[in-house]
Order: sequence, then structure tokens, then C-alpha cells
Amino acid sequence: MKPSWQITVTISLCTIYLLARWLAPKEVEDDRDKRKKKQLEPLVKGKAYTKDELFKYNGSNPLKPILIGIKGNVYDVTKGGGFYGPGGPYAAFAGRDASRMLGKAQVKPDEKDPSIDDFTPSEISSLNDWESFFSGKYELVGTLK
Ligand code: HEM
Repeated sequence: MKPSWQITVTISLCTIYLLARWLAPKEVEDDRDKRKKKQLEPLVKGKAYTKDELFKYNGSNPLKPILIGIKGNVYDVTKGGGFYGPGGPYAAFAGRDASRMLGKAQVKPDEKDPSIDDFTPSEISSLNDWESFFSGKYELVGTLK
């Protein structure tokens, strides 16, 4: 007759092992998320961005905030990552001066991008509306050089 304590210990060890396996991936995932948030590169507030500097904030680096330029200003749109991050519907705006695309209701730059010199009054008005939207929803963090 086998001693019953052996069975009890084996079952207990199996249960602990399975529980640990079930819990571990979630903890690892949570840690990764926390790390990403903590490691998100801090922005220098009020910085004047060149085109190339701004482009580094186009969402392709998950440790950098996502920035968009509109009418000479730069907004931190990281919280709208679903729109502007990789694969998002408006990803083309990220890391660039999106004024022309916004005024012309385009989700891709055209050959004249980013100039708005040829804008009609209605495109200027549309761009101004978008500017109000962005300044209401997102933080102004800098300017375009
Ligand atoms: C078939 C055409 C389109 C559809 C169905 C569509 C749909 C939407 C929807 C559902 C939202 C989210 C609104 C909300 O959060 O309450 C949105 C936001 C937005 N759309 Fe569109 N859209 C279209 C075209 C465009 C175009 C052409 C542009 C280019 C200017 C554009 C720019 C934006 C922007 C900038 C936002 C704001 C995202 C944010 O909250 O940061 N959309 N759109």
C-alpha cells in the first residue's frame, strides 16, 4: 500500500506548477507594459524640431512618444497611438508636418507636402478646425523649425 502523503505532495506540486505557469505570462506581460511606459523617452518641452528630428517620433520606435506637427506647432499624440501608430489609419501624419494632409483631408502626403501655400479658403478653414481639435485633445510640446 502506497503512503497517501506521496500522492498528496505530487498533486500539490503539480497544482503549484500549473498555477505558476498560468500566472507567469500575465506578470511578464504586465512588467513589459510598465517598463515601456516608464522608459518612454521624456520630451524636452518647447523644443523646436527639424523635419528629421520630428520624423524620429513617427511611432516606429515604441520607446519614443508619437508627435505630429500642425501649423508650426508640435503635439504629443502618443495617447492616440491607435490612430497614429504603425498600422493606424492616420499613421502618415506621425512624425511629420500634417498640415497639408489635414487641410486637404488626405491620409497620405502628396508631391507638394508639407506646403499649404496653395490652400483654398475652405482648406485653410478645415486646417484651422483640425488645429483646434488637436490643441484641445493633445498637449502642445514644441514647434517646427
Ligand atoms: C471614410 C473616411 C473616414 C472615416 C470613416 C473616418 C472615421 C473616423 C473616426 C470614426 C474617427 C474617430 C472619432 C472619435 O474618436 O470620436 C476619426 C478620427 C479622425 N479622423 Fe477620420 N475618418 C475618415 C477620413 C478621414 C480623413 C480623410 C482624414 C484626414 C484629415 C481623417 C482624419 C481624422 C483625424 C485626425 C481624427 C482624429 C483622431 C484623434 O482622435 O486623434 N479622417 N475618423
